[in-house]
Formats: sequence, C-alpha cells, structure tokens
Amino acid sequence: MSDQADMIWWKTGVIYQIYPRSFQDSDGDGVGDLRGIKRRLPYLRELGVDAIWLSPIFVSPMADFGYDISDYTAIDPLFGTMADFDALLEAAHQHGLKLLLDLVPNHTSEQHPWFVESRSSRDNPKRDWYLWRDPAPDGGPPNNWLSEFGGSAWHYDDTTGQYYYHAFLAQQPDLNWRHPQVRAAIYEVMRFWLRKGVDGFRVDVLWHLIKDSQFRDNPPNPDYQPGRPPHEQLQPLYSADQPEVQQVVAELRAVVDEFPDRLLIGEIYLPLERLVAYYGIDLSGAHLPFNFALLSAPWHARALAELIDRYEAVLPQGAWPNWVLGNHDRPRVASRVGAAQARVAAMLLLTLRGTPTIYYGDEIGLRQLPIAPDQVRDPFEKNVPGVGVGRDGCRTPMQWDASPFAGFSTVEPWLPLADDYAQDNVVNLSAADTSLLSLYRALIALRKRQPALQLGDYQPLAAQGDVLLFRRVGGGSSLLVALNLGAAPVAVLSEQFSLDGEILLSTFMDRAGERVGATLDLRGDEGVIIGPVPDPIV
Ligand code: GLC
Ligand code: MG
Repeated sequence: MSDQADMIWWKTGVIYQIYPRSFQDSDGDGVGDLRGIKRRLPYLRELGVDAIWLSPIFVSPMADFGYDISDYTAIDPLFGTMADFDALLEAAHQHGLKLLLDLVPNHTSEQHPWFVESRSSRDNPKRDWYLWRDPAPDGGPPNNWLSEFGGSAWHYDDTTGQYYYHAFLAQQPDLNWRHPQVRAAIYEVMRFWLRKGVDGFRVDVLWHLIKDSQFRDNPPNPDYQPGRPPHEQLQPLYSADQPEVQQVVAELRAVVDEFPDRLLIGEIYLPLERLVAYYGIDLSGAHLPFNFALLSAPWHARALAELIDRYEAVLPQGAWPNWVLGNHDRPRVASRVGAAQARVAAMLLLTLRGTPTIYYGDEIGLRQLPIAPDQVRDPFEKNVPGVGVGRDGCRTPMQWDASPFAGFSTVEPWLPLADDYAQDNVVNLSAADTSLLSLYRALIALRKRQPALQLGDYQPLAAQGDVLLFRRVGGGSSLLVALNLGAAPVAVLSEQFSLDGEILLSTFMDRAGERVGATLDLRGDEGVIIGPVPDPIV
C-alpha cells in the first residue's frame, strides 16, 4: 500500500451525506437550508468527517424533492441564494471540509426550459434532447418499460401525439444521452460548479443514462417476488446499464479531471460484478462507484464475510473501494439491524477498506420513522403505496437538542420528528461518553490515527458463528477487528490466528487498553479493534 498518490483526500477521508431539507432550518419555514448547514459545520468538524455531499439544492418544482431540476445552475429559494451557497462553500473549506454536489444528469424536471421547448413541437431543435417515440400500433406506450416509481415509463403528450420516456416520475423526463448537445450542456453545468470550487459530484442514477437504441422490450424477471415494487417484474436489460454508458462515464470523469483533486462518485444499484465496470477501463470512469451492498446485506457474519470477499475480489486492479451504510432512499440502518447492532455496523463501516459514507443522523441512531398515510410526502410511496418503499421515514429532521422541534426549526418541520428526540439528540449524546455519537467520533478519530485503517490491506480471518474477524494491515501496523453480530456473548479462540494485542476500542467504549492473549471474550453485540501492544517506554 500507500505511496503518495494514495494519500488523496477521498481515499483517506470519510464522506457525510446531508439531505438538505432535513439537516437544519435557519429561516423558520420548517425546511432545512444552506445557512442552516453552514451553522452546523462545527458539528461536522467535531465528528471528524472530511467531506459533505449535499442532495440536490437546485431550482426544482420538488416533485421528487430536488431530483427534478428546472435550473441546474441556480439555488432553489427554499434552500437560499447563490450568495448563501458561496458562503457555505467557503466556510466548509475553512473548516477543512470538501463539498460535493449532487449531479442529476439522467432527467430534468418537466418544467426545465429544455423540456418545455422539446415538448412544444416535433421539429423543435431540442426535440431530440429527450426520448420521444410514436405510440405502439394500438395507441399504447412504445414498449413495456416500467417506471421505477410505478406504472409505464412512457407518458403520452397530447401536444405532439408522442410518448416521452421517464425512468422515474412523469415530471422527470429522461434526457437523451446519445445526443452530443445534451452531453455538452451537462458538462458545462459541471464546469460551472467546479469553477466555483466544489470538490466533485455524486452522480444520480449513473447506470441509467443510456438506453437501448432500438427500445426493445425488457424481459420478465423470473425472480420477481410478489409484494416487491412493480417495476421489478421486468429485468431492466434494455433500459439501463448499456455498454455505451461507459463512454459517458469516461467523459464525465474527463470533465472532473479538468480540475485538480476533484471526485466523481456514481450512484449505481447493480450486482457487484456489474458495479465495478463503472470504475471504467484503466480506471477512467468513476473514482467511486457507490457500493450499496451493505444496504441489503443479511446481517450475519458469514454473509458479510462472503460479501466483503466478493467485493474485494471483483475490484479492478488499483480501484479504490467504498462502503455505504445508509442513504436517503433506503431504510435507516438502526432499523435494519437494531439499535444494539447499529454500533457494530458503525465499527464495520469505519474499519473496512475503502471510503466510508455516513448518512446524516445515523451517527445519533435515527430510526426509520413510521409515516401515517396522510403525512406521506414521498412520491414513490404515493404511487406505489403499502409495499414499504416509502422514503420519508429515513428523511426526518436531524435531532439537535431537546427544544421544541429538536433545534431543527422553530416551526413544525416538513416531515414529523421522532418522539424520542428529547433524549436522542446531538446535545445529549455528545455529553454521554459512551453514546453512539461518541463511538462514531472515536471510530473516525482512530481511523485517522491508524494508517492501517485508512489505507491498509483487508485480510479476512474468519466468520465463526456470529463473529466476523478480519485484519487491516499496512503502514507498518496490523489491526484485528472482531465483530459479534449476535446478541449472545462469545469467546473467540485464537487457534488459527493470533489475537495478541491490546484493545484500542470496543463498541461499548469501556475496554481500551485491555490486553488480549489466547482468547477474546466478546459481549453480545460487541465489536472490538485490537492493535499491537505498545512498546514499553524506556
Ligand atoms: C436517485 C435518488 C433518488 C431519486 C431518483 C430519481 O435514486 O437517490 O432519491 O428519487 O434518483 O432522481
Ligand atoms: Mg428553511
């Protein structure tokens, strides 16, 4: 490991995702905003993260809460002004934090001037900027493709008698990425922000950008499980992950590379073997194709060990790994694995090889909040109700303190607050030495001090019953990580490998300095990091 090139910030650092609507409101409208984020930078610095990624903050009708953009180079007034953005960027940099924006190139809002033009007539110069097709002979949609948010992915437009394609909402028409002008336009958007000094992008649904040029029907999915969202009835063979997308990914990367030290992350939900193609030929693609495997992994030692091995095995030569524990689209980790295991999950995330991404609020154990039907805001849940796809529950306001509305706002927030906020908030958890928040801080700090955790190799040791064991080796040091994924205490025996060392950190935060020899006793739901016994001071 570790020549100078490896010391780059996005390899050694920790990324923190902010969902701006829910982080901090500053103007009393119940919705988070840029000034609010700026106010909370000291918190992020104390937490120890290195970069923040903001979900979209651009002008939007908010049909999909900012993922439907009508102006890529302006800030939505809900979040503030361009001056607020500039101030945030500068302050973030002063705090030593990188700032990443969300680039949403697959689709615009239907209200984007490009689409308004495109739909106005068949011979408008921007007609082919989007995907327009004639109706099928029976008048129905041109093919069987399904929207991820329910129903056909084709919307009939009266004005011109054709259908347009939308992978998500009808209010989110897909751009035609085979069109050179579309590419050039989005690359200019990127340059606009890169020139301002943003440190890179997380690219929304990167694997969706190119669709089959013949618009062939998708085949049925033989593995479809009733109760799953309806779009899973088809395999997206022709509507996503097309070979030609790799050229686009390389072009996006080339734009980012026009500026020094910038980062390109791709949002990609694909099996690991397909995911790693997005590193590109000779690593000319995304620096970090987001690895979402932990979001749906069964929480068992053997399953996790296999998953980590599989990911490490398929990584291209020189590709840098990454791990994500939560995001604004998936149920909260504390609800997926339970509060006790959320601590073990934190230790796993922050000791695996690769850049970790923390979703705001996971560090204080925010849970998936059940949302009453009349409080649903998420369009996915509205279109496909009752199958558990709702995303409001993982987007509830950050819980800062015990004051009304949790210090998030001075008025009723846009989404309900969990009723535990009077206890589970940043102020209380900061004051408690062994809280989940304190554990996150300790893990991030330890990762910074230990080159083996930042850049070291990953060496699997064993999955013994409920215990996952691995080593991180590098920078002249070797650390052992032992995670008990079960609720029962266990004794780990060092038959095949040495446990010798000293506990650097337990998830319970009460065993630092304890010597370990022939056996390691773990409590239920406990993880520990063991380092070498320090040399005696002479
Ligand atoms: C991505 C975003 C999600 C959004 C969708 C459509 O998956 O993470 O929130 O709804 O793209 O833009
Ligand atoms: Mg506000």
